Amino acid sequence: MINKVEWPGYSGMTIGQKDFLALSDYSSFEIKSLLKDAMELKQMQKSGIPHPYLQGKVLGMIFEKSSTRTRISFEVGMLQLGGHAIFLSSKDIQLGRGESISDTAKVLSRYVDGIMVRTFGHDKIKEFAENATVPVINGLTDLHHPCQVLADLLTILEHKGTLNGLKLCYIGDGNNNMTHSLMEGAAKVGMEVAIASPNGYEPNKEITESVKVIAKQNGRQLTLTNDPKQAIQDADVVITDVWASMGMESEVEARMKDFEGYQVNDELCSLAKKDYIFLHCLPAHRGEEVTGSIIDGPHSVVFDEAENRLHAQKAILKALMGKSY
Ligand code: CP
Ligand code: NVA
Repeated sequence: MINKVEWPGYSGMTIGQKDFLALSDYSSFEIKSLLKDAMELKQMQKSGIPHPYLQGKVLGMIFEKSSTRTRISFEVGMLQLGGHAIFLSSKDIQLGRGESISDTAKVLSRYVDGIMVRTFGHDKIKEFAENATVPVINGLTDLHHPCQVLADLLTILEHKGTLNGLKLCYIGDGNNNMTHSLMEGAAKVGMEVAIASPNGYEPNKEITESVKVIAKQNGRQLTLTNDPKQAIQDADVVITDVWASMGMESEVEARMKDFEGYQVNDELCSLAKKDYIFLHCLPAHRGEEVTGSIIDGPHSVVFDEAENRLHAQKAILKALMGKSY
């Protein structure tokens, strides 16, 4: 891993946005600044230097779906920043019994300094953010997973020393949260992006159009194809995700058939650059979207990636909750 990365983002810059819902809301410079801050926070934590930027602040965390990494990394991150996090399962709060999103957002804003939400429809988190007077952070919706992708960019940067000009290839379900956030984040930082997905599983059209414009502005391209061999050719970074995301359980059987030929395996990865790295947001299904030989092999950086959730999210928390509203 490259330890010292020269990176042009300005650490400690003021982020203009109240919320962190999608990477499309953030400029390339803001994303790079968050990455720079994440690297500094990681360095401080590894060196045992206290960094209580959020002393006494409280993060509420609403989960409507299961989580291992997101819950734990946010909770630990808040503790390391001198604050506290409260886990709120939607099953146990009145939201799960029909209390409105707007009332929940308004009430929570009177108690806590920031709210992380993991939910289904992206419109729900948007409504939540519109009604909350404190920052709202997207901990995953059906459409986006921006915290994960900030951690992915941090991981790529640490391993490759740069992001600009690298080719990122994603193979699998094109119409899911990871693909959309990866497309937005990678295009914003100047990467080539190639997505290979089966017919009927292409990324959201609106996001595709806006990412094409961003890529073009940076002199890069977004390629969508049904051919995984074409997408992975000379890739620096290979990524996949589960074939059936949370909430898609009834489609598992059909999807297993539809995604045949889209498994990330040794044969496919032989077409990537020799020094490619493999990422997966986890949880993974070995033998489905990826073979054990790849995810547990020498090119895999999935546990660095999981660790980086902590450091990337601390940068987001510090940027959004370190100021008053
Ligand atoms: N990658 C990720 O978001 O993991 P969890 O679902 O465990 O939070
Ligand atoms: N696409 C996956 C990501 C899990 C972190 C899902 O939504 O289930």
